[in-house]
Amino acid sequence: MPYKICDIEKLSELQAEEFLTGADGQQRDAFVFRYQQQFYAYENSCPHTGANLNWQPGQFFSLDGRFLQCSLHGALFEPETGRCVRGPCAGQSLKKVTLTLTADALWLDEAGQT
Ligand code: FES
Repeated sequence: MPYKICDIEKLSELQAEEFLTGADGQQRDAFVFRYQQQFYAYENSCPHTGANLNWQPGQFFSLDGRFLQCSLHGALFEPETGRCVRGPCAGQSLKKVTLTLTADALWLDEAGQT
């Protein structure tokens, strides 16, 4: 059954919304954000240690707004791909979460629950 994550108007450029994903009772932290007018969603787990990436609630981007940045050791990730381009997990990637975009909202459906 689809689960509404948020209205898209709530997400302005570089803003993120956190949510839970996962089936079988193993829920994991995840987040979705708007970047260059597109929406991307990943599990909120750094490939280095599994720590949450964000600095504060909803704060995932580096100061220059070009990369997602891990708050623990500073790894930088491409927003469009989730690939780490600098840091202790360089070459590894964040795990994508599939969301459905409708006219006004983002939804997590069973297919997006990994
Ligand atoms: S936990 Fe993210 S870079 Fe170390």
